Amino acid sequence: MGILENKQRARLFYRYLSKVYDRINPFIWNEEMRDEAIEMLDIGTEDEVLDVGCGTGFATEGLLQKSEHIYGLDQSRHQLDKAFKKFGKHGKVQFHLGDAERLPFADDRFDVVWSSGSIEYWPNPVTALRELRRVGKPGSQVLVVGPDYPNSTVFQKAADAIMLFYDKNEADRMFREAGFEEFGHTIQQASSNSPRAITTIAHVPDPSP
Ligand SMILES: C[S@@+](CC[C@H](N)C(=O)[O-])C[C@H]1O[C@@H](n2cnc3c(N)ncnc32)[C@H](O)[C@@H]1O
Repeated sequence: MGILENKQRARLFYRYLSKVYDRINPFIWNEEMRDEAIEMLDIGTEDEVLDVGCGTGFATEGLLQKSEHIYGLDQSRHQLDKAFKKFGKHGKVQFHLGDAERLPFADDRFDVVWSSGSIEYWPNPVTALRELRRVGKPGSQVLVVGPDYPNSTVFQKAADAIMLFYDKNEADRMFREAGFEEFGHTIQQASSNSPRAITTIAHVPDPSP
């Protein structure tokens, strides 16, 4: 397990990274990639959308272009403070300080559940993916963006030491173990030299016939 796949360490990390996050982020995860991922989803203007690990609200901002019923959750107060500066603490986004592994929402609550760039810090990604499934309505869409596993063995060693990087096979395993039956992955990249993201869209199983 990587050094940052620990909630306390990730919180400490973001206490400092939050200061520069919005300036560094575009090198890895930029507006074009975010908007491309948003377009993979079918979001209606009345849909209730949850952004898990919303951070400073980078994806939240994009999601707001589709619906005004956006909820953001993050475990870092410092990241959320940055988001409050953009959207207000009690403005149109409903923010929650909380943990992806124990979402403070009822079952079958959301039309869309989104999480970009956060899974790599979750110590128990399958537990959190189960939570994303639990709070999504039957048949709803869940989108998760995480870091794709590097090809070179040198980078693989470094990546494994830091946080979760995963390939399509591992994504299949995690989503299946979390109870998803239908899902697919797309690789996204800011430029040919930058790290790749693996973007998964899954559907919450609908038990009704
Ligand atoms: C790389 S930032 C991504 C922010 C935003 N989603 C984006 O697209 O730019 C990762 C965020 O995940 C949050 N995070 C990490 N572990 C978490 C957990 N267990 N529960 C909730 N948020 C978590 C961090 O605090 C951080 O704000």
